[in-house]
Amino acid sequence: MAWSKRNRQLHRLLSLIFTGTVVLAMIAAAAGLTETAIWLFYLPLPPLFLLMGTGLYMYVQPYRAKRRNARPNPA
Ligand code: HEM
Repeated sequence: MAWSKRNRQLHRLLSLIFTGTVVLAMIAAAAGLTETAIWLFYLPLPPLFLLMGTGLYMYVQPYRAKRRNARPNPA
């Protein structure tokens, strides 16, 4: 339970970081910086990758819980 709460908080924090990097890349592109520093365009990818991991974890959480609860009670 505590772990899924942490995961959701992390997903929320990562979404802010991701949005920040997208805005930064857009400003850099408008300023013409991306012509020399192409890596600025790739800046949103690491947080997006982590968002995918934490997001998919949240997605499967209800199905995992359902399976766990459906299992016969041992003893
Ligand atoms: C990359 C793949 C992503 C996947 C698979 C994914 C998946 C999910 C899932 C399953 C939830 C929970 C929805 C629910 O409560 O039922 C969620 C919540 C959320 N997602 Fe994502 N997401 C992704 C990317 C993003 C991105 C790019 C953003 C924003 C920049 C974002 C922002 C949020 C926010 C703010 C929430 C609500 C978190 C909360 O409850 O506090 N996600 N996402």
